[in-house]
Amino acid sequence: MEQDQQLRQDYPEQPRRRTLLNRLWSLIGLLAFIELGWLGSSILKSRKTRNTQLQGTKWIEAGRAEALITGDVKAVPEGMLFLARLEDGGFIALSRTCTHLGCAISWDKEQEKFVCPCHGSTFDRAGTVLSSPAIRPLDFYQVRIENGHIRIDVSKAHRRESFDPSQTTRV
Ligand code: FES
Repeated sequence: MEQDQQLRQDYPEQPRRRTLLNRLWSLIGLLAFIELGWLGSSILKSRKTRNTQLQGTKWIEAGRAEALITGDVKAVPEGMLFLARLEDGGFIALSRTCTHLGCAISWDKEQEKFVCPCHGSTFDRAGTVLSSPAIRPLDFYQVRIENGHIRIDVSKAHRRESFDPSQTTRV
């Protein structure tokens, strides 16, 4: 008994310290709980965004419209496609996949045509067949111009049987 009293006299702050420690642990637990909740919601949100991109459109930026003059063709590596500006000023985004058997075409600047290295098909800058064995024009992507910026929807390459001006976009 005397010993207890002596202890209380020696350590008067013991209960207060224990309460403080308990509160501190509670606070740490609460912070961990909040962080777990935030982490879980972030993962769910990123999954939802990815699914939306897969189901819907996916627009990529392809530079400023005025940077491409009439007749220019440029590769857009991010979308694995080519962007061309046609004689009438319209823009067309073309798949780099040959419509014969799917090889990757390249732009021959000197000859001003797309050339397939596999079997020699060639296409003009609008993607129309110049020489076979390919018989169908290159697929194209939807282009939008917003505030002078070119945007291309790379979620879907559109198949076509012939060229039509509606496949191009003007400033
Ligand atoms: S795959 Fe291009 S010509 Fe055959």
